[in-house]
Amino acid sequence: MAAEIVGAIFGALSCICGTPTCNCIDQHRNFNDDVDELGRKLDSLTSQKQDIESRTKEAEARGGQMVRQQVQEWLKQAEEINAKLRPFLARVQGVKWYKRACLDSLVCRKINMVKEMLDKGSFPEGLVIERAPTHGNIIPTENLVGQISTKEEIWRYLMGDDVGMIGVCGIGGVGKTTIMKNLHNDLQRETRFEKVIWVTVSYPLNVFKLQKKIADAMGQRLRDDEEVMMRAASLMEIMRRVRYVIILDDVCQKFSLKEVGIPDPNVQNGCKVVVTSRSIEVCSYLRCKIVEVKPLSQEESLKLFLDTVGDGVLQVPGLEEILKLIVEECAGLPLAIVVIAGSMRGVDDVNVWRNALTELRVRVSSVKDSNDEIFKRLRFSFDRLDSLEVKSCFLYCSFFREDYVFSKRELIECWIDEGLIDGLPSRKAASDRGHAIIDRLEKNFLLEKDNFGSPEKATFRSLRPFISLGGYSFGIPSAKMHDVVRDMAIISIGPEFGYVIKAGMNLVELPDGHGWVKDPKKLSLMANNILKVPPSLSPKCLSLSTLILSSNPNLSEIPESFFGEMLALKVLDLSNTAIETLPNSISKLENLSALRLQHCMKLKYLPSLANLRELKKLDLHKAVCCLRETTIIRNLEEVARLKKLETLECQFDGIQDFNHFVNKFKDFQSAIAYSLGVGTARDMMRWSKYELVITECEIWEECVVLPNNLEDLWIIGGRNMRSSLNRTVMFEMEANELRRCFIWKSEEIECMVELDSSSSSSLCCLVLDKLKMLHLHSLPKLCELVRVEGAATPPHIFSNLKILIIIDCPGMSKLLPLDLQQAFQNLEEIEVGNCKHMEEIIASSDSDASSDKFTFPKLRILHLADLPQLKSIYSAKGVMVCDSIEEIGIWGCRELKRIPVQLRLLDNGQPSLPPRLREIKMDEESKEWWESVEWDYPNAKNLLKPFLKYSTYPWV
Ligand SMILES: *[C@@H]1O[C@H](CO)[C@@H](O)[C@H](O)[C@H]1NC(C)=O
Ligand SMILES: *[C@@H]1O[C@H](CO)[C@@H](O)[C@H](O)[C@H]1NC(C)=O
Ligand SMILES: *[C@@H]1O[C@H](CO)[C@@H](O)[C@H](O)[C@H]1NC(C)=O
Repeated sequence: MAAEIVGAIFGALSCICGTPTCNCIDQHRNFNDDVDELGRKLDSLTSQKQDIESRTKEAEARGGQMVRQQVQEWLKQAEEINAKLRPFLARVQGVKWYKRACLDSLVCRKINMVKEMLDKGSFPEGLVIERAPTHGNIIPTENLVGQISTKEEIWRYLMGDDVGMIGVCGIGGVGKTTIMKNLHNDLQRETRFEKVIWVTVSYPLNVFKLQKKIADAMGQRLRDDEEVMMRAASLMEIMRRVRYVIILDDVCQKFSLKEVGIPDPNVQNGCKVVVTSRSIEVCSYLRCKIVEVKPLSQEESLKLFLDTVGDGVLQVPGLEEILKLIVEECAGLPLAIVVIAGSMRGVDDVNVWRNALTELRVRVSSVKDSNDEIFKRLRFSFDRLDSLEVKSCFLYCSFFREDYVFSKRELIECWIDEGLIDGLPSRKAASDRGHAIIDRLEKNFLLEKDNFGSPEKATFRSLRPFISLGGYSFGIPSAKMHDVVRDMAIISIGPEFGYVIKAGMNLVELPDGHGWVKDPKKLSLMANNILKVPPSLSPKCLSLSTLILSSNPNLSEIPESFFGEMLALKVLDLSNTAIETLPNSISKLENLSALRLQHCMKLKYLPSLANLRELKKLDLHKAVCCLRETTIIRNLEEVARLKKLETLECQFDGIQDFNHFVNKFKDFQSAIAYSLGVGTARDMMRWSKYELVITECEIWEECVVLPNNLEDLWIIGGRNMRSSLNRTVMFEMEANELRRCFIWKSEEIECMVELDSSSSSSLCCLVLDKLKMLHLHSLPKLCELVRVEGAATPPHIFSNLKILIIIDCPGMSKLLPLDLQQAFQNLEEIEVGNCKHMEEIIASSDSDASSDKFTFPKLRILHLADLPQLKSIYSAKGVMVCDSIEEIGIWGCRELKRIPVQLRLLDNGQPSLPPRLREIKMDEESKEWWESVEWDYPNAKNLLKPFLKYSTYPWV
C-alpha cells in the first residue's frame, strides 16, 4: 500500500521534473508496473523478431524471393532497440526509489517506442517480394541515401540514345561507386543490355589486366602470350557481338578505349561505357558526358548518419544539436559520414559527443593534410580507435595493393607475424583477438566486408556440407580497404609511423639510394614487377623491421650484401617471387621471427637457419618443389630444432620426400604446428595445429608415414589406392591422434579399411579409434566402409566417430554393416547425399534377423538426400532406436516406404515422441510421399505434424 502511494506521489512529481509526460503515466502510476510492462514488451519484440527472421530465412532459402527493404530495416532496428533497452531495463530495475520519479517518464517513452516497433512489425503486405529475373550478378552494396537525382540523371543517359560515354566525377568518398553499384544492380533487371560488366580499375592502370578482367566478365579467355595490341583486337571482336554496358570504376589515368579493345559506344551498337573518376580531366579526355556527384545535403547527411549510428542516439537528451554540428563537419561526404558515425556507435554520453565534435573540428581545420578534405575526416575516426594495437593493425591493411581482397585469416597471420597482436598465450588466442579487431574495424567502416568475387570460394563450394555439418563456419571470409581510406592511411598516417608503402605501383626496380626513404620502419613493395636487386646494393635501414617484397613474380636475385645493414629485420616476406637462392646473409638476421617464402617455386637453396633463434614461423607453403635437394632438408631439420618455432608450412613434391622429412622430423615435432602438403599444392584448411593434405599423388606400393600427432588428414584426388587405409599399401600407421579424415575425388577407392585374416588389423584400428569425423565425397567406386575378409571385425574401430558424411558415392548400396553396430555407439550425425544406388542405410543380414534393433544412443541428426533407390532404412521390419534424435531430414527419397524410428509407448498405449525432436525437414514436393510413408505407430504422423518443416536440401 505504502509503496503504491509513494509511487503515485513521485509519479506526479515526475511531471514537475520537467520531463514530458506520456500517456502511460495516468494509467500506471506504479513504477514497477511500468518496468515490468517494458520487460514484457521487449520480450514480445524479441519473439516477433525471431518469428520474422525465421520466416524470411525460409523464404530466401526457397529462392526467387527477396526480403522487403522495410522488413530488413525493421529487423535492424529491433535488434538495436533490444541491445539498447536490455541493459537499460536491468539498470532501472535496481534503481533506488527516490530516483524513480524522474525515470518513470523515460521508461514510459521506451514503452511507447517498443509499442510502435511492435505495430510497425505486422507487415500486412508480406515479408518478401518476388525477385525479378536477372541476367548477372548482384553486387552487394549500401542503399543510396540522397543523390537520387544524380542516379536518375545517369539512368536517363543509360536508357537514352544521346550519350554513349558517361563520366561520373566527384571527389574521393563522395559516393560515386555506391551510386554505380546501385545502378549496376538495377541494370541487371533491364533487358536493354545483354551484358552488364563491372570492372574495378586499380591504380596504376594496367591495360593487360584490364583486358583480362573484361574478358573474364564475358566468359572468354584472351591469350596470355600475346601483345596487348593483339589482345585488344581479340577483345574488340568479342565485345562487338553483344550489347553491353561496361562500368569502369575508379579510373585515375587517361587511356583510350581502343587500346584496351572496347568498341566505341554509339547509337548503332546501343552500348554504353561509364567511367567513375576523381578527375574531370580523365573524363573529358575520354569525351564523356560528365555527371558530377555532389556532396549530400545537410538533411541527407543527417539521415545517413542516423542510419549508421542508430536512431537511438536521438533519445539522448541534448544530443541532437551536437549531432547536427558533427554531421555538418562531414561536409556531405558519405564515406566520412559512415566512418565517423561508425566510430560513435554505442556512445550515449553527451560529453563524449561534445568532445568528439571538438576533436573533429581540430582535425578538419588543421593545416596539415589539407591536400584532401576527406582525409582529415577519416583521420578523426582513426584517432578514435582505442589502442595502438588496433591502429597498427589497421595501418597494416594498407600494405597490400589497392583493391586487394585479403582473406581474414591471411591478414591475421600477418598481424601475428608482425607482433602486432602480442602477449597472448597461444596463436589461437591471438587469432581470436585478430578477428575481434577486424570486427571492430568493419564496424567502424575502416574495412569493408567482401563477400563476393573471391575465386577461392567457388573451389570450396562443394565442400560446404562438410563444413556446415561439422559445426564449422565456412566461406572464405575476406575484407578489403576502401581506396580512399587506404590513401588516407598511406599518405596521412603512414609517414608518422615510419611506414613506406609502395605496393602495386608497377615498380620495375627498387627505389634507388635516395628513394629509400630515410630509415623506414616498415616497407612494403608488394605486387610490383621488380626484376632484380642490383649487385652490391646495401641499403642502410637500421630500423627496418618489416620488408615485404612478395608478389614480384619475376624477382629472381638478391645479392649477399642486401641484408647487410638491415639487421633489425623481424619479418621478411619473399612469397610469390622467382627467387632461387636465399643469400647467406639471412643467417645473420638474428631477430628474424617470420620468414615467408610461400609459392617460391624456383627456390633451390636455403642457407643455414640455425642462428635464427627468434624464428617463430617458416612458411614454405607451395614453395620448394623439389625437397630432395639435401641442403634444404638439412636446414629444415635445423629449423625444427629452433626453440621458438611455432608454425611450419611445407609442400612436398612426392611421398618419398615427405616420408624422408617426417622420419627426421619425428623427434621434435610436438610443439610445432604444421600444415604439410604432398603433391599438387592446395590451400590448407587449418582446422587444427597438425594437418596433412595429400593431393593427386600416385600412391603405389609406397607407404605414407604419418606424423604421430596428425589430427587432420585430407586425401584429394589420390590415384591407385584401392582401400584408403590399407597398411601395406598406404600408411604406416603411427598417427594415433587422427581426428578428422576427408577423402575426396579418388577414383579407385573401394573401401575405407581393408582387412584380411593374415593382416594384423590392430594398427589400422588404432588410427580409426579416435577418429571423430569421416567424410567421403565423390568416390565413384566406394562400395563399403570396412572390408573384412575372413578376419574378425576389430572391436574399437570407429568407436569415437561422431560425424559420418557420405556424398556422391554412386557405388554404395548399403551404408552400415550390421556387425559394426557396436562401433557406431557415439555417432551423432549421419549425412548421406546423392548416392544413386544406395538401397539401405543399415545393411540387414540375409537371414531372418529382420526384426532386429539397431541402437544409436547419441544420434542427433539424420539427413538423407537424393537417394532415388533407397527402399528402406533398415530392412522391412528392423527398428532404429535413437532416443536422442533432434532432426530428421529426408529429401528426394521417393522409394522409401517406412521410417523405422522406435517411439516409446506410454501407459495408455500411445506413442510418445523422442524428447529432443525439433524438426522433420523435407521439400514441398515430398508432401505426397510423406502421406504414404509408414511409421510403425498408427497415429505417429498426427503427432509429428507440428514438427514438419519444408525446406530445400541445404547444400546443393
Ligand atoms: C616475367 O616472367 C614471365 C614468365 O617467366 C615472362 O613471361 C614475362 O615476360 C616476365 N616479365 C618481365 C617484365 O620480365
Ligand atoms: C634484436 O632484438 C633485441 C631485443 O629487442 C635488441 O636489443 C637488439 O638490438 C636487436 N638486434 C638488432 C641487430 O637489431
Ligand atoms: C592392401 O591392398 C593390396 C592391394 O590392393 C592387397 O593385396 C593387400 O592384401 C591389402 N593389405 C591389407 C592389409 O589389407
